[in-house]
Amino acid sequence: MLDRLSAVPPDPILGIISAHAADPNPNKIDLGIGVYKDEHGDTPILECVRRAEQILDSTQTSKTYLGPPGVTGFNSAIGELIFGSDSAALKDDRVRTIQTPGGTGALRVGADLLKEAQPDATVWVSDPTWANHNAIFPAAGLEMKVYPYFDQDSNDLRFDEMMNTLQDRGPGDVVLFHACCHNPCGVSPDPEQWEAITDLATARGFLPMVDMAYLGFERGIEEDALSVRRFAEKCPEVLVASSCSKNFAVYRERVGAVSVVCHSAQNASDVVTVINSLTRKNYSMPPTHGTGIVDIVLHDDELTQLWRREVDGMRNRINGLRKILSDKIEAAGIEKDFSFLQRQSGMFSFLGLSVEQVRRLREEFSIYTVDSARINVASFNEGNMDYFIESLKSVL
Ligand code: LMR
Repeated sequence: MLDRLSAVPPDPILGIISAHAADPNPNKIDLGIGVYKDEHGDTPILECVRRAEQILDSTQTSKTYLGPPGVTGFNSAIGELIFGSDSAALKDDRVRTIQTPGGTGALRVGADLLKEAQPDATVWVSDPTWANHNAIFPAAGLEMKVYPYFDQDSNDLRFDEMMNTLQDRGPGDVVLFHACCHNPCGVSPDPEQWEAITDLATARGFLPMVDMAYLGFERGIEEDALSVRRFAEKCPEVLVASSCSKNFAVYRERVGAVSVVCHSAQNASDVVTVINSLTRKNYSMPPTHGTGIVDIVLHDDELTQLWRREVDGMRNRINGLRKILSDKIEAAGIEKDFSFLQRQSGMFSFLGLSVEQVRRLREEFSIYTVDSARINVASFNEGNMDYFIESLKSVL
């Protein structure tokens, strides 16, 4: 039976990891996958995580199953982090958060839940969106459509066109937003625009679903939660897929959570039983090492403060790199305007290159990006930026 299968191409983002690893060029640069790197090109374990892991190791007495919700302390701490400790929805007991294997797991559980609730629902995603969104929702059997989002000429948000499209959405439609640090374009609505989007969701009755993979990497932990908090305040139902991969740098531990805001406490309890039955059929119970670490950090004031400082450090470094990169590109005499890099935020931006230029960067200079020319700004450092700019100048 299995011999009916033929090979499929590797995922475009994940394929870059192995292509870069196999390249012997000492100047090679991996601008592909969204992983934070420090000045030395390393992705270190955060100090708060290292300390919490030691506590976990010395206090854990069993590896027995914890049951479908996993680490319940993690679930409640993430709920508070996302929605804010003063959230009315939390106080009204209308919110449930359940840990999942990473943010992707959260998206898939959320998609399965939507399919269960309304099989003919349509999920609207931004144009463009994270490539894996385009795979996850159809894999769950849901119809997917796109709404206008990024303007390639101005490198800004197509806000009016987005609102015009969302204006026609209603019950039965799910609209997926990126909470902050839009992946792949780095452009987010501003607070006023989020307000208008929230009002539209309330007026039209579509269900907002938020992918929150980069909390803390745009303006700050509280600031980046704005969209989710406004939706939870005003809309009867909200879905959130959150991830700790980036902001706790626990990528391979697969730490994420799906949160539901429901119209009543009873409905929220009922929905959790559905989530539990869906995950039971899929991975039975979630892994708990990474969530155990995050649970310890978020229940210890000192470690929480340390974590917040470490997130600030990662964000400030990325923002600093954005400015240096855009200044250096200008100083190198490149005519094309890259000042948008400074207006955008998070790890990703588009360079606006053709597939041919991307191929030349890869083949002639060992600089790896996905074909869309999305770059991970966090991959730059003092040692590789000038080489990148020279190479960019050559392909332009
Ligand atoms: C990315 O977009 O590079 C990250 O979200 C990592 C991934 O799994 O694709």
